[in-house]
Amino acid sequence: MATRMVVLSLILAAFLFCNPSQAFPFGRGGAGYPGLFPEFYQFSCPQANEIVMSVLERAIAQDPRMAASLLRLHFHDCFVQGCDASILLDDSATIQSEKNSGPNKNSIRGFEVIDEIKARLEQVCPHTVSCADILALAARDSTVLSGGPHWEVPLGRRDSRTASLSKSNSDIPAPNSTIQNLITFFQRQGLNEQDLVALSGGHTIGVARCVTFRQRLYNQNGNNQPDMTLERTYYNGLKAVCPNSGGDNNISPLDIASPVKFDNTYYKLILYGKGLLNSDEVLLTGKVARTMELVKSYAADESLFFHQFANSMMKMGNIKPLTGSKGEIRNNCRRIN
Ligand code: HEM
Repeated sequence: MATRMVVLSLILAAFLFCNPSQAFPFGRGGAGYPGLFPEFYQFSCPQANEIVMSVLERAIAQDPRMAASLLRLHFHDCFVQGCDASILLDDSATIQSEKNSGPNKNSIRGFEVIDEIKARLEQVCPHTVSCADILALAARDSTVLSGGPHWEVPLGRRDSRTASLSKSNSDIPAPNSTIQNLITFFQRQGLNEQDLVALSGGHTIGVARCVTFRQRLYNQNGNNQPDMTLERTYYNGLKAVCPNSGGDNNISPLDIASPVKFDNTYYKLILYGKGLLNSDEVLLTGKVARTMELVKSYAADESLFFHQFANSMMKMGNIKPLTGSKGEIRNNCRRIN
C-alpha cells in the first residue's frame, strides 16, 4: 500500500512540476497538430485562458472594432515567418519592426491590449505564456465575443528573436490581389482554396481605409473606370467616403450590414456586389469555380462557414510555430529578452 502511494505521488509530482511539453513528451497533437496542444498551460498556467478572455471582454466592450484588429494581428503574424509574435517587436538596434511594412503601417492595431494581457499573465505565471500563444488566443476570443465560433486553440508556440520587415512586405496579400495571387499567397503558407475563402470571412468584422479600395472606385483597370462588379448604390456610398484624391484614412466597414457581428453576411454581400475589397469580390468573380462555390455555400449556411472558419484558423495558427527549445518566451512582447 505504502509503495503504491509513493509511486502515485511520484507520478503526480512529475505532472505538476515538469514543463508541459515534458508532461506530454510526444505532444498531444491537438486537432492533429504535432507539437501544439490545447492543454499546454494546464499545469504551468491554468488561468491563461481566463486572463486573456477577461482583458478582451473589457477592451472589446470599450471598442468593438478591437475584436477585428486582434483577429487581423494573428493573421499578419502567422503569414510572416510563422506564428511567432514577430509582428509585436518594436524597432530596436537588432530589429526592423514589421509594424512599418506596407500592409501594417497606419493600419495594424491592438498592441496595447496584447501588452495588457501579457502584463497580467506575467504577474500570475511569470515567464510562461508566449506572446505568439496570446495572439492565437486573442484571435479566438475576439471571434467568440463578436458572435462567431469557438475552437480549442492548440498552444505551445514560442516567440521569435527576429522579425522580417521584408517578408511582411512580400508575404501578406494586397487588397487589389487577383484570385490567382490570393491562391498563390495562401498556398505558400500551406493553405488551400477552402482556407482562403473561409479565412477571408474574417472580413465579416472590422473596417478598411479608403486607400485600400480607391482603385476599384476610380480606376480599376487603368482605364479610369470603376470596377463594374460593384453594386451601384454601394458604389455611390463608397465614393462619398473615399474621394479620388485625399481622405486616404477615411474608413468603411468590410461588412456594411453588420460590421461588429461575426456572421456570414460577408458572403451574402459578395453575392450582391457589395464586397469592399477587390480581394473579397474576386472570390466570387475571379472565375475559379471552387472559390465561387464556397462563397455561395457559406452565404447559404452559416454553420458550415463557422465550422470551416474554426478549422482554417487552427491550420493558420499552425504555420511554422517555434516549439521545444526554439525561440524564447518573451518577458515583454515588444522586445526580445
Ligand atoms: C485574403 C487576403 C486578405 C487581404 C488581401 C486582406 C486585406 C485587408 C485590408 C486591406 C484590410 C484593411 C486594412 C486598412 O485599411 O488599414 C483588412 C482588414 C482586416 N482583415 Fe484582412 N485581408 C485578407 C485576409 C484576412 C484574413 C485571413 C483575416 C483573418 C482571419 C483578415 C482579417 C481582417 C480584419 C478582421 C480586418 C479589419 C481590421 C480592423 O478593423 O482593424 N483578413 N484586410
